[in-house]
Amino acid sequence: MAVKKEYKRDYKKERTREPKKISDVKSTPRAKVNADGTKEFDQSTFFASCPKEVEYLLEQEIKDLGITRIEVEKGGVAFKAETEQALDVLLQSRIASRVFKELQVYTISSEKDLYALAKEKWWDKVFSVHQTFKINTLFDRETKENFTNSIIFSQLLKDAIADNFREKFGERPSVDTGRPDITFLLRVERKPGTALYNARILVDMVGEPLSNRGYREESLKAPLRENLAAAIVMTTDFNPDADIFTDTMCGTGTLLIEAILIRAKVAPTYLKIRKYIEKKIPVFDFIKHPWFMVDRKSQRVFDEKAQAIYNHSLAALNELQTRQFFGFDISDRALETTRIHLHNAMIDQQIVTLNKRDATKITPMDEAPGIVICNPPYGERMGEEEELKDLYKSYGENLKHNFKGFRAYVFTSNPLLRKEISLGTSKRHTFYNGSLECRLLKYDLY
Ligand SMILES: C[S@@+](CC[C@H](N)C(=O)[O-])C[C@H]1O[C@@H](n2cnc3c(N)ncnc32)[C@H](O)[C@@H]1O
Repeated sequence: MAVKKEYKRDYKKERTREPKKISDVKSTPRAKVNADGTKEFDQSTFFASCPKEVEYLLEQEIKDLGITRIEVEKGGVAFKAETEQALDVLLQSRIASRVFKELQVYTISSEKDLYALAKEKWWDKVFSVHQTFKINTLFDRETKENFTNSIIFSQLLKDAIADNFREKFGERPSVDTGRPDITFLLRVERKPGTALYNARILVDMVGEPLSNRGYREESLKAPLRENLAAAIVMTTDFNPDADIFTDTMCGTGTLLIEAILIRAKVAPTYLKIRKYIEKKIPVFDFIKHPWFMVDRKSQRVFDEKAQAIYNHSLAALNELQTRQFFGFDISDRALETTRIHLHNAMIDQQIVTLNKRDATKITPMDEAPGIVICNPPYGERMGEEEELKDLYKSYGENLKHNFKGFRAYVFTSNPLLRKEISLGTSKRHTFYNGSLECRLLKYDLY
């Protein structure tokens, strides 16, 4: 693959020093003190979504940001926080796909109730008649037993919003199902033991998913989303201060890059923040939401957080001198893509030793301790599975003979292929890559 011209650009010249610690601008909740001395926090409810089975990692990230009112749900974590604290989650989480702010919860018995209740809301406080919008509806399992068509719910909520605007202003905002200014999520959940439902209306604060960090070439398909790759690295026992990190089948470099960002303690949104600061691009949807556009304090806090991330990421990546990252692949194209992605991620190529090698024959490039990880091909096409059995078998044997003292991890969705690795599994974790059930298997090599 030809390397793009832009790939030659030297970011080092653009880097600045003196990082400001992110913790310096972390939000602390603002409390109203009541007459009796009790404190009342001006908090809203948020929902951060993530791939299934990694909710506990997201929960820990949210706790680490000082948020205490947390509820783990399937596919995400609900939490109560001030908007400025929720911005920390949006900016710092490696696991979240999106962050939503809850606007309203209605109790309904049918979709008609939803229309009647939603038509009365002050939608013009949420967005303007000149902005475009879209509604996605999700049912929980119990709701699906009674309602089959989530599109009807989306349409009725859309009608309620449109009629509300039309009655007040004589015109209505348009729907854009592609890239609207504002996206609502309607979650309909059955109230236990009743024939009633909670219709929860949330607004997406993010827009483009947080998993799209911004270092990938859009034209190239990679099997791992960035937040899933981060979750895999965070599930291993990788110790960034002591371990070498080897990806023996690195593909487009996602595991390597996420591990380097973890090592450098760089917020996963740093490339988006760079666009926001340097090009004034509103990289998150909330920046265009009316509440934010009139809230000077939130704007100032967000700008401070963004500047801290910008300064820290440039300095931390610039100062990273380590030689602990190694990537191998059998394909020239894969290695070239990894190089492009490293460049896009502003990671110095010197930090990662990339080599064209057959993973069934390689030996470690440095001494243990360390982790050796891979996400081998898993045989999507007919007949491919048989051919891959040998790869898995020989790879397992190579680990056994040449990687003594390392901790090995294999991430794959194929149960037949993973059985070909004749090593004892010391840990296993389930993940979902979209709807595909996958396992991360750990092998201790003595
Ligand atoms: C599923 S992809 C890895 C994707 C990677 N985790 C990413 O996020 O881009 C599998 C990779 O294994 C590589 N591969 C297949 N057989 C190999 C072998 N014997 N040695 C080294 N790499 C191999 C392929 O070229 C491919 O890039």
